[in-house]
Amino acid sequence: MMYEWVKAIHVIFMVTWFAGLFYLPRLYVYHAMPENSGSFALFKIMERRLFAIMTIGAVITAVFGIIMIVQGGGVLFQSGWFHFKLLLIALLIGYHHACYRLMIKFRNDANTRDHRWYRWFNEAPSVLLIVIVILAIVKPF
Ligand code: HEM
Repeated sequence: MMYEWVKAIHVIFMVTWFAGLFYLPRLYVYHAMPENSGSFALFKIMERRLFAIMTIGAVITAVFGIIMIVQGGGVLFQSGWFHFKLLLIALLIGYHHACYRLMIKFRNDANTRDHRWYRWFNEAPSVLLIVIVILAIVKPF
């Protein structure tokens, strides 16, 4: 029962986290277009707020995930899918950190990449979401 409540909160905040992981790089796509320079000040505010919300989502997702690991008493570490999930979470945290570094560059008007690069950068969280959810729910191995 308790485990199920923790899992529900875990998934709710995972959605909050991903809302940011999907939309922050989208803002970077627009922010990387010189023709939008009249809106750069607004983009900076939107990016800062979205990053704050997605970081809260990430921390709460991780805390409630760790609570489930503790509740499970270590049995999850016997499963291959769980090890793989943890590896992909490490990549996701790396991506989150990359978003932070890029935000600081935009804030200093020091962005060096074009909008096409951000369009590709924007695809990574979709791939990670699909694979992590399949691992967590299907538990294929
Ligand atoms: C941030 C670190 C994370 C930790 C420590 C963690 C840990 C866990 C644990 C221990 C469970 C319960 C597993 C079970 O009982 O079978 C779980 C469930 C789940 N996690 Fe995570 N997780 C994390 C991040 C994520 C992310 C990023 C996603 C999505 C992309 C995700 C999606 C899910 C889903 C959908 C479930 C429910 C699976 C079910 O129906 O049983 N988790 N997580």
